[in-house]
Amino acid sequence: MTQARRRIRIGLIGAGMAGQAHAFGYRNASMADGLRGVRVELAHVVDVFAPLAQDVAERYGFERWGTSVDELLADPTIDAVSVALPNSQHLDVLGRVLASGKHVLTEKPLGMDGAQAAQLVELALAPGREGAVDAVGFSYRRLPGLAALRDAVADGILGPIRHFETTYYCAHAADPDDPFTWRFDRATSGGGALIDLGLHAIDAVEFVVGPITEIVGARFQTAISERSDRGGIRHVVTNDDAAALLMVAGDGATGTLQTSRIAHGKPNSLQIAVFGANGSASFSTEDLNQFTIHLAGGDARFDGPRRVITGPLHGAYPDVSSFRSRGVGTGYGEAFIAQVQAFLRCILDGTRMDSDFAAAATTMRILDAAERAAAQGRPVVLEGAGA
Ligand SMILES: NC(=O)c1ccc[n+]([C@@H]2O[C@H](COP(=O)([O-])OP(=O)(O)OC[C@H]3O[C@@H](n4cnc5c(N)ncnc54)[C@H](O)[C@@H]3O)[C@@H](O)[C@H]2O)c1
Repeated sequence: MTQARRRIRIGLIGAGMAGQAHAFGYRNASMADGLRGVRVELAHVVDVFAPLAQDVAERYGFERWGTSVDELLADPTIDAVSVALPNSQHLDVLGRVLASGKHVLTEKPLGMDGAQAAQLVELALAPGREGAVDAVGFSYRRLPGLAALRDAVADGILGPIRHFETTYYCAHAADPDDPFTWRFDRATSGGGALIDLGLHAIDAVEFVVGPITEIVGARFQTAISERSDRGGIRHVVTNDDAAALLMVAGDGATGTLQTSRIAHGKPNSLQIAVFGANGSASFSTEDLNQFTIHLAGGDARFDGPRRVITGPLHGAYPDVSSFRSRGVGTGYGEAFIAQVQAFLRCILDGTRMDSDFAAAATTMRILDAAERAAAQGRPVVLEGAGA
């Protein structure tokens, strides 16, 4: 690797919640052995809300801040751009980032529906982008406990997976007085709990169990139909507060997905359980640094799931844990470090990200299928499934 390739300059577009998590990831990325000596420079952060751009620049150490995406993209010294914007901005802004030829890591969802995602995949593969990385941030797949479940399935330890369940619950909108934001308006979000939260559970199923091939049934619910914005103006909520899906994934496993943003008592909680021919395993972000595994056929008197504490043998743990020993654990923020590390490795090695635009577009087609299944009251087989 040449000296010139070892400096990577970063631009960040969108300095809200997720943008700050990306900044946290970049600041710590070079702690991985494989990225030793790589200089990650936080060059420029942009947000339409200038005080936030300035605040994030000062807190995370960006050289510049501003409000113009075009100015950031015109800077030839910037190699890679993270995008963390409201969903309605993804198609336009990502289109411009892709046209600049820079490497891009965007937050999920990829656009607002399958059609926008397909457009973005096409732009990502357009002439002029040869060697440029396109990546989508599905941060939960970087958690060591979830990676361990994937290993248990991929290595055949649990046998063929027969059924599964996954949930992603939040309580950020459980109170009717929680303010109306872009997340509650279909025009700016593309959807509600399912696209915002459930998409991570969809990715977890695809990551652990295998491709989702059919949405057997789906139901969306809006429980709080109006909310006030921070200025006191009332708005109609035009997307789902909760959704429930029945689906088929992997080698014919059936499973359920439930998601909600109005789940009292669940501030932020993703879980998945998988049941195979030889055993079962489960992971929940409520116990982030452990997972359970049960292997059939043991002494019946001591039959039951084992709790495994995560450590350096699990996923990105050795690259992100400040202590490289088992049991000290990692958190939500470390998943963003691991996500950035995966992105930087792809840039340095010229490889594709596991969660690239094409993979993210698949998750968007699954959302479309869930909407069709709910609207038409019948199963929807995913195009290409079983081919
Ligand atoms: N991976 C995860 O776990 C995770 C977590 C949270 C959010 N997200 C995703 O990240 C994205 C952003 O969500 P968020 O929670 O950070 O939202 P947010 O509202 O906190 O932040 C969005 C920011 O974008 C700015 N902005 C809007 N339009 C802009 C434009 N054209 N140019 C520059 N700045 C602009 C806003 O001023 C705001 O500060 C969403 O797509 C969401 O799905 C992912």
